[in-house]
Amino acid sequence: MKQSGIRILGIETSCDETAVAVVEDGNIIRSNLVASQIEIHRRFGGVVPEVASRRHIEVIASLTEEALKEAGLPRQEIDAVAVANSPGLIGALLVGVSFAKAYAYGLNKPLIGVNHMEAHIYANFLTENKPIFPAVCLVVSGGHTSLLYMERHREFEMMGETRDDAAGEAFDKVARFLGLGYPGGPAVQNAAALASPGKYHLPRVYLDRNDFEFSFSGLKTAAMNLWNKLQRSGEDAEVNYLAAEFQEALVEVLVEKSINAARQKNVKQILLAGGVAANARLRERITAEASANNIQIHIPALELCTDNAAMVACAGYYQYLDGDFAGLDLNAFPQSGLLVKKACG
Ligand code: KG4
Ligand code: ZN
Repeated sequence: MKQSGIRILGIETSCDETAVAVVEDGNIIRSNLVASQIEIHRRFGGVVPEVASRRHIEVIASLTEEALKEAGLPRQEIDAVAVANSPGLIGALLVGVSFAKAYAYGLNKPLIGVNHMEAHIYANFLTENKPIFPAVCLVVSGGHTSLLYMERHREFEMMGETRDDAAGEAFDKVARFLGLGYPGGPAVQNAAALASPGKYHLPRVYLDRNDFEFSFSGLKTAAMNLWNKLQRSGEDAEVNYLAAEFQEALVEVLVEKSINAARQKNVKQILLAGGVAANARLRERITAEASANNIQIHIPALELCTDNAAMVACAGYYQYLDGDFAGLDLNAFPQSGLLVKKACG
C-alpha cells in the first residue's frame, strides 16, 4: 500500500448538506464542495428527513463529478471512497452509503465507513499544525455534546455528554421559539452580537457539578419561560439581550468543563469540533481560557466546523492507514455508538 499521495474521496449526506471532497494525505484539501439544503428546509423551520434524502439523491452524482474535476483528478486516481455511515438521518445516510458503495465497486477501490462525529474531530487535522496527543475534544453539534479524551488516533474515551438536548439543538429550539430565524445557531449569534449578556439572568446548568455531564434542556426552558414572563409583564422584552445571555450561559459551561477536563487528564491540547464550534463567542472564550491555562486550542476553519466532506475524507485517511475497510455490506446507522464503544481505559 502506498504511503503518500493517498487521495481519499469523502462523501457526507448525514443531514441536510450533500458534501463531496477530495483530500490528499489527510490534510491537503484538493476540493471540498457542499450543496446546502438550508433554503429548502427554511420554510419548515427545521430539516424534513424525507425531503433531505430526496435532495441528496438528486445532487450526489453531479457533485462528485464536480469535486473530482476541481481536484484535477480522473476517477481512477482516487485511492479509496470514505462515506459517513453514522450517526444521522437514516434515509439521508443511506443515499451517501449506497452511492459510495457503487462508486467504490465500479472503480474497484476500497470503501471506508466513517463515523460522522469522529469526522468532526478529524476536521482539526486538516491543517499543517496538527494536534498532538493526548488531547481532550469538545464535540458540539446539532445532535451531540460530548467531552472525549484521545490518547492516540481513533481511540476515544467518553468523559461526559449531555443528558438531554445537544448544544446545537438548544440553539435551534431557542431561536425558533424567539422567532430569530433558521438555522438557529447563527441566528442566535447574530442577535447576541447586537447586545450583551447580563441584562437577564439564565442558569449555568451543571457548572457546580464536578463532572463532565451537560444539560441544555433546562437552560432552553428557562430562556423560554423568561421570555413568556417578560412579554406577559409588559416589561421591556429585548430579544437580543436574551439571546446574548442564553449564548453566554451555554458557552460558559462548555468552556469551563473543557478546561477542567484537560486539567483532570493533565493534557495540553483541546480540540473543538462540530457545528457549534463555528460560534464566534465559543471560539473567543475557549481560546482565551485555554491560553490563560497554558493549553493549546485547535479549532477548525469556519467552513470545516459545520457538515462537510473534507472531514470525512480526513477521518477516512486514518482508517485507510490502519487498513480499516468496509465490505459491500456496509450499512448506515442513525445512532453514533462508535465513539462510546471504542472507549479506552
Ligand atoms: O455539525 P453540524 O453542522 O451538524 C450536525 O452534525 O449536527 O451542526 C449543526 C448545528 C446546528 O444546531 C446549528 O444551529 C449549529 O450547529 N451551529 C451553530 C453555529 N453554526 C452552526 N451554533 C451556534 N453558533 C453558530 N455560529
Ligand atoms: Zn455534523
